[in-house]
Formats: sequence, C-alpha cells, structure tokens
Amino acid sequence: MSRPTDAWRAEHDSFARLLDIFSREVDRFHAGEHPDYELMRDVLTYLRHFPERTHHPREDVAFARLLQYDRSLEPVVSRFLQEHRVIGEAARAAQALLEAVEGDEFVAREEVEAACATLLVYYRHHLAGENSLVLPLAAKHLTPADWDAVGRAVSAATDPLFGDQVDERYRELRERIEAKARR
Ligand SMILES: [Fe+2]
Ligand SMILES: [Fe+2]
Repeated sequence: MSRPTDAWRAEHDSFARLLDIFSREVDRFHAGEHPDYELMRDVLTYLRHFPERTHHPREDVAFARLLQYDRSLEPVVSRFLQEHRVIGEAARAAQALLEAVEGDEFVAREEVEAACATLLVYYRHHLAGENSLVLPLAAKHLTPADWDAVGRAVSAATDPLFGDQVDERYRELRERIEAKARR
C-alpha cells in the first residue's frame, strides 16, 4: 500500500530529475559549449511556478500540522520555509541572467555559473533535507485527517509537465526526461 509520503517523495524525485537536466546544461555552459537555453528556461519556469502553486502550499499545511505534535520542530520548520523563499529567489536570479545571456546582453560567465550553481546547491540541499528529516517525521506523526488537510490545501491541479496532459511548452522537456529514464 502506498503511503502519503510516497507521493511527496515522488514529487521531490521529479524536481531532482529536472535539476539533473539543468545541471548538465550548466556543465555545457561551463565547458564553453552552447547549452540548450530553451530547456533551461523551461526547467526554471516549471520550478518557479508549479511547486509554488501546489507542492509548497501542501508543505505549509504539513509543517503546521507537524508543529501541533512537536513544538520543538519550530526551528526546523522555519528553516525549510525560509528555504522556499531562497530557492524561489535563486531560480528567479538564474532565470534573469540566462535571459540576459540569450538577449546578447553582456553578462560575466562567472556570474551566470555562480547563480546556476547556487540554485542547484540550495535546491538539492532542500530536497535532501526534507526527504531525510521531514518525511520520516510526517510519516510518524500525521494522521489520516492531517493528510486530508494537506490534500485540501490545493484544489485539484494538473501537473503541466509530469501529468497525463503535457502542456505544449513542456513537451520537449518531458521527452528529455523520458529519454533519460530509458537509458
Ligand atoms: Fe519544501
Ligand atoms: Fe518539498
């Protein structure tokens, strides 16, 4: 039987796959090759919007419920909530720089690489932290009623990338993900 935390972890795995794709393009940029800017933009657009609308609101409820069981988790929860703002800002900054590069504005390569690396490090660290720290606590404390509340945090939202109906703009990215899975 699948547990509620399985779906949560599966979303983290999806985000991690996107970060891997993004990372590969950053490596190409670092090597002086021409990365697939469109693909990078699609990854960032997705990561800036979809988790913001669905994943994070559900986590907000799960975190709040966890605190009801254990107030000592306050510093941990506030750290993860702060990280949501940090990864959002890091993605925005990386996207702005990549758009500037694409628009032929002068941007130092180091600045672009630093912004992309910062995003990758923060995001991966955030996912790893939630997987190792938050999910086991949620599995231990949250009741079916809590999980219902987590589910109700967001009205049924279709995932434009990993869902059954892939949004036109994410078609290439989805194909890349599936090709990678087949390897
Ligand atoms: Fe999170
Ligand atoms: Fe998360």
